Amino acid sequence: MTEVTVFLDRPDGVRLTVAGRAGRSLMRAAQAAGVEGIAADCGGVLSCATCHVLVAPEWAARLPPPEPDELAMLEMTAAPHEATSRLSCQIVLGAELQGLVARLPDTQY
Ligand code: FES
Repeated sequence: MTEVTVFLDRPDGVRLTVAGRAGRSLMRAAQAAGVEGIAADCGGVLSCATCHVLVAPEWAARLPPPEPDELAMLEMTAAPHEATSRLSCQIVLGAELQGLVARLPDTQY
């Protein structure tokens, strides 16, 4: 099983390294790694927006575009959403995302 390593930057500048199996969501991998700041209150069913991340611009275009349900939930994030905002429960890890970088919003810390 392929393991994918991604990096999450905290608002205080600390970069966290998260490894997760391919096919798992970034949200699940982050929670398994004990990352604070991704509450994921709904467990990944697109009804909380507490798994918001800001994907680094150079990585954003490599992700499949958000589905309409994700776009709707991005309107509900605590931090203002930005052009590269995504819900980490909808980012499925795969080899093509090896080294992905995203930032955790201030409001989630
Ligand atoms: S975990 Fe609730 S929307 Fe992602």
